Amino acid sequence: MQRILPWTDAVIQSFRDVTPTVREFCIQPALGTAAYAPGAHLQVQVLVNGKPQTRSYSLVGAPDAACYRIAVKRLDAGRGGSLAMWQLGVGSRLSIIEPQNHFPLDLNAPAYLLVAGGIGITAMVWMAQTLSERGASVRMLFGARSLSELAFHDLLRKQLGSRLQTAKAEQGEQLEFDKEIAALPKGALMYVCGPLPMLDTARAAWTRAGKPLSDLRFETFGSSGRFAPKAFQVLIPRHKIDVTVAQEASLLETLEAAGVQAMYGCRRGECGLCAMQILSLSGEIDHRDVFLSAHEKAANQRMCVCVSRVLGSVTLESAYLPEIV
Ligand code: FES
Repeated sequence: MQRILPWTDAVIQSFRDVTPTVREFCIQPALGTAAYAPGAHLQVQVLVNGKPQTRSYSLVGAPDAACYRIAVKRLDAGRGGSLAMWQLGVGSRLSIIEPQNHFPLDLNAPAYLLVAGGIGITAMVWMAQTLSERGASVRMLFGARSLSELAFHDLLRKQLGSRLQTAKAEQGEQLEFDKEIAALPKGALMYVCGPLPMLDTARAAWTRAGKPLSDLRFETFGSSGRFAPKAFQVLIPRHKIDVTVAQEASLLETLEAAGVQAMYGCRRGECGLCAMQILSLSGEIDHRDVFLSAHEKAANQRMCVCVSRVLGSVTLESAYLPEIV
């Protein structure tokens, strides 16, 4: 289980659009900023349809004594968190939890390949700066839909020069994973932050090159599923639960609200602790985790309820016994 940290008050100090769909916010906490390391994220509470929802955003760039900087991609067909953030203005109040880090940067490797897809670049900005300033051997692959969506591109180009390779999907460009990985020395680390298809591609290239998976570090966002989020029905016969998971809520949040004491760890689809057995399915599972293997996802016998969703309805078995609900 994660350590529980308290919510504290904060205010939007300023914001600016770094791409047509990515807005950077400077958030000033009432109690002052805390120190954090590359890879850290900030938890933010936003109101979606009048209900508080928690979102995690990577902290962008080096710590600033005045504020925490995050960047939010506007997802018009998302669960509503990004649209709620985009409605905030200078002076808007919100609740935050001080920075935590589940994606730490190991500073002892002989070389680094940083890989970012879209808004995944936010986790990489300070990693790139830190490694550059230390004189480390670092290269970056950064893919986005178009040139205008390469957030923080100018800053990264200044830091990395020709060590930054970009790819614009609209122009049919692709990142050269095999070539870049082949050039890495033994013991090099690859850090990946981006949507699931990018992680799958990067992981496949890493494995093809015979690199140990322990040297591949990644962070994903549960928003990157195959389908746009829609409400769906969930039954848990053991607990006599029949609930609708709203478009803006996760299955785990909905079960918790219904009184099911579900098990969880990362809440980002990485640890597998929240996986529940699927008893029956009407429709399709949108597996959004990186814990289950491709084979397990195809078998549809388990799903990670923190991030995965359903197109239709599903009946689940909870790992918890009824007497502790
Ligand atoms: S809580 Fe870690 S995968 Fe769901």
